[in-house]
Amino acid sequence: MAIFLDTSKIYEIEKYYKMGIIRGVTTNPSIMLKDGITGGLKGVKQQTIKIAQLIAPYPVSVEVTTNDPKGMVTQAREFAQWADNVVVKITIHGPNGELDNMEVIHDLEAKYNVRVNVTAMMSAQQCLLAAMAGASYVSIFGGRVNNMGYNVNEEIVKLRNILESQELKANIIVGSTREVLNIIEWLEAGAHIVTTVPNLLEGMIVHPYSKETVKMFLDDARKAEISMKKARNGILPFHS
Ligand code: E4P
Repeated sequence: MAIFLDTSKIYEIEKYYKMGIIRGVTTNPSIMLKDGITGGLKGVKQQTIKIAQLIAPYPVSVEVTTNDPKGMVTQAREFAQWADNVVVKITIHGPNGELDNMEVIHDLEAKYNVRVNVTAMMSAQQCLLAAMAGASYVSIFGGRVNNMGYNVNEEIVKLRNILESQELKANIIVGSTREVLNIIEWLEAGAHIVTTVPNLLEGMIVHPYSKETVKMFLDDARKAEISMKKARNGILPFHS
């Protein structure tokens, strides 16, 4: 069971990596664009290498930027050379449901020894076929599934059961987090990994009542210190 960070921002990754919480990073072209990564593939390469070096040997997923089958294979093989812990994201199919991606996924894993994270999936059945094609990771977008009015937990339970009964190697990544609760809920449902936006981790850690309790401890410690000093100076009996 693990938490990945769904971002390409180095300072965010460094912050949670140093806490010992995260075990990997996922990105996609939309995240890179939002995070201000410029310079096309050159920019993507530079940022991916920085992330890969920072979190090694934990994996960083980077997505191909084309849907041309040959182009996907060429890019994926190039990305995999950037660092040992680079995993390449391939969407389950093309923008119009083109099926070539399945063969690309299979070839990358079986022929070219590239670790593939199959992405943009909304159902257990898509993930199952991606796992059967040989994917190392299958990414289902929990927040988007829930937004369509389905409950992704049911898909996660079904998928985990079938992957285990069929002894398929794929790790389930649930992404597209929307609420703090998603992380523990999806891990409990059977996700191997939940990849989350950084601010939700802070939401998991910080609790208003914990804040109040910590304040109480610190205030009382200060009061105890003051009364100990007074006792030393003979103002108060030591035990007061
Ligand atoms: C997962 O790998 C994806 O990068 C991501 O979680 C998609 O999330 P979104 O639905 O917020 O775009």
